Amino acid sequence: MSDHVTQRPSALIILAAGAGKRMASDLPKPLHLIGGAPMLAHALAAGAALEPARIIVVTGHGADQVEAAVADIAPWAECVRQDEQLGTGHAVLQARAALADFDGDAFVLYADTPFISEATLHAMQAARASHDLVALGFHAADPGRYGRMLMEDDRLVRIVEAKDATPEQLAITLCNSGLVVGDAAVLMRLLDKVGNNNAAGEYYLTDLPQLAAADGLSVTAILCPEAETLGINSRVQLAMAEAQFQAAKRREMLDNGVTMPAPDTVHLAFDTHVGGDAVVEPYVVFGPGVTVESGAVIRAFSHLEGCHVSTGCVVGPYARLRPGAELANNARVGNFVEVKNTQIGEGAKVPHLSYVGDADIGAGANLGAGTITCNYDGVMKHRTIVGARAFIGSNTMLVAPVNVGEEALTASGSVITQDVPAGALAVARGKQVNKPGLARKLMERLRAIKAGKEQ
Ligand code: UD1
Ligand code: MG
Repeated sequence: MSDHVTQRPSALIILAAGAGKRMASDLPKPLHLIGGAPMLAHALAAGAALEPARIIVVTGHGADQVEAAVADIAPWAECVRQDEQLGTGHAVLQARAALADFDGDAFVLYADTPFISEATLHAMQAARASHDLVALGFHAADPGRYGRMLMEDDRLVRIVEAKDATPEQLAITLCNSGLVVGDAAVLMRLLDKVGNNNAAGEYYLTDLPQLAAADGLSVTAILCPEAETLGINSRVQLAMAEAQFQAAKRREMLDNGVTMPAPDTVHLAFDTHVGGDAVVEPYVVFGPGVTVESGAVIRAFSHLEGCHVSTGCVVGPYARLRPGAELANNARVGNFVEVKNTQIGEGAKVPHLSYVGDADIGAGANLGAGTITCNYDGVMKHRTIVGARAFIGSNTMLVAPVNVGEEALTASGSVITQDVPAGALAVARGKQVNKPGLARKLMERLRAIKAGKEQ
């Protein structure tokens, strides 16, 4: 392997223009989610292993939406449009102008093939040191509609699309992943020669090997495990991809020392981060943006997204942490509690049946069962501040904006509409009046009325 070749700059060309008809969806295929991130984001993340100097995403079907997603995920990437989807070869050609001044290798990746590993991309790069064109293949358990790779020793002679294949060729299990790398200018020059005289009437990228060989260039294929090349064309394949992603992510967490007694029931996101010796009980769902520190416990049936849980915290069972929930060390969020955009201070407790939104809860504070922050007036959101070591009585409504001082107390059932000074007791509920004997009298009267009606 010559350093001269492997150190050439790389460009990624990610194909994301196809209609994805078999998804039966209004959402463009590259934006369907795996582990809470668009499959396009997975493809971009995989390609990042090559430290590409340039990234070109070819958009077409649903271009506005796909381009907005690219701007969000990888603002440094460039989008080029393929107005008509005339095939994978035609799609790559759309990157020509964007790469006109680029001297280096172009890797063609597919937005709908999100699981390519870093090791495989590096293996392609390594093979490129001794070949002009390197395609990525795999042995398929069920070759189905994949293109078949025709090899002579280590020479890739031709790729035949299933639609165009003879029965003998269809029996070949070595399939084309679609990924290919070669000098960017050479790729474009060869693609100019691709025609559309085939069963699909499309300009196939898969015509490249044959054209390259005819030009005297050396073409080879390297192989990767089939799991990496899972192409997503339907909802069934999307569900399979999700399962594959989940299995790998769970495995990674277990390997990192997370305790998960029932890993198959835990649903993770692409960026879920859980520290070693944390416990994740069965049936916990992680949306995007969650970090859980070592030693925290997430109890069963909890749902977390966009939140941070510090060491020593216990969350759930049946807790919901929404974006902006930040739990300091040793905080406790118990059953049927929802927390949104709120800091829960060190050692503070919200043990049961509460809604806490847009709030700051001081260290060591205790929110009794049924505490509700009334944060929304129908137009605007307002903040609630509860001081350190304050004690909020059960079933208190905290009508925001409101401030409860340190070590203050609210009586159970209070509707707190005014600030409570530090150390004060606030009682904001109707006064109790006892009427001796009246309960019995009332019951007797009601029973007599009922008996009269039944006669
Ligand atoms: C392609 C390959 C096939 C390979 C398979 C692997 C060709 C001709 N065939 O078939 O050999 O086994 O992938 O999954 O290349 N796209 C565009 N513009 C187009 C057409 C496609 O951007 O005009 C994009 C799609 O969005 C997708 C990718 O290219 O990301 C592959 O297209 P798809 O239609 O899924 O090709 P396959 O039929 O799966
Ligand atoms: Mg496909």
